Amino acid sequence: MTDLTTLEADLAAAVTAAPDVAALEALRVAALGKSGSISELLKTLGAMSPDERRERGPAINGLRDRIAAAIAGRKAALEAVELDVKLAAERVDLTLSPPPERQGRVHPTMQVLDEMIAIFAEMGFGLAEGPDIEDDFHNFTALNFPPKHPAREMHDTFWLPEDERGERKVLRTHTSPVQVRVMQRLNEKLPAWVANGPPGNGEPPIRVIVPGRTYRSDSDATHTPMFHQMEGLVIDRAIHMGHLKWTLETFIARYFETPLVETRFRPHHFPFTEPSAEMDVRCDRSGGEVRIGQGDDWMEIVGCGMVHPNVLKNVGLDPDQWQGFAFGFGIDRLGALKYGMPDLRDMFASDARWLEHYGFSAFAAPNPATGLS
Ligand code: PHE
Repeated sequence: MTDLTTLEADLAAAVTAAPDVAALEALRVAALGKSGSISELLKTLGAMSPDERRERGPAINGLRDRIAAAIAGRKAALEAVELDVKLAAERVDLTLSPPPERQGRVHPTMQVLDEMIAIFAEMGFGLAEGPDIEDDFHNFTALNFPPKHPAREMHDTFWLPEDERGERKVLRTHTSPVQVRVMQRLNEKLPAWVANGPPGNGEPPIRVIVPGRTYRSDSDATHTPMFHQMEGLVIDRAIHMGHLKWTLETFIARYFETPLVETRFRPHHFPFTEPSAEMDVRCDRSGGEVRIGQGDDWMEIVGCGMVHPNVLKNVGLDPDQWQGFAFGFGIDRLGALKYGMPDLRDMFASDARWLEHYGFSAFAAPNPATGLS
């Protein structure tokens, strides 16, 4: 029996001395595991005589139960200590001030885009989009740019490498190719419309705006290689310059939130409009700030014109039946004018400080002019 007494004393002492849960677990395996010291003793019972087993059995089983209980007790104590240590280390210090929270801002271009869409939507314009990577046909040919004509270079075009068919795509230099895409879609539907009249209550066949990214190899304070344009296109019967003028003047008054808009149309040249014009608005630049609607200065705001008969023919429309106007705004530039950014390049420099200053809160009060925030 002394062997059991010694073993129990040794094990009990080791359990009490176990410094942590891992050491205790090692002890448990050494005593009660498959070939642990107590387990080996239990295995000897089988080979004993019944008398011997009657005596040794309860002794060994008792030893096993007491040691198991001691290990369980020590384990609970160790775990409690470990939890206390952890709780002390991970305590949240509520007296510490929180790190400053950086709030995202709406980029001025996106803000201006929302404002523009809201105004044109109210005037009954729908929205159309097209791809940033365009083919030569949509970006130039269908828009009446003569083949090999230097006008194609006029835009400082980014050409893509030749594809397997020997075709060179471009990063679209303007949103005007979407005019072509929209009119081509119209043309597919045209036979039904001619037979039944246009869809809706006498709605004109086309009234769309086309916002999007555009690209030209150009960079200075008023030009960035990537910028945003908004195209407008109206096609119907008997559309004339008067409609164009009213549309642009109405838009400018709403956008700049001023009833005082005076415009002038300067003759210009675009291959896809005839006549073509640039529209200027009266402004005041004194005092380093631009005020629209007053003063002695003029500022160019938008390129526009009546859709060239060749463009209509290129999409299969009969110019004697259909006329229309188109215009193209620089969205970023319009934003810079309204919100006073001196250098367009900063708009896309991804400087968080700039965005903090010029950006808009996503939860701002609605803009009275547009109903948008
Ligand atoms: N696409 C022209 C440009 O980018 C702008 C424009 C659009 C002019 C529509 C006339 C009509 O300069």
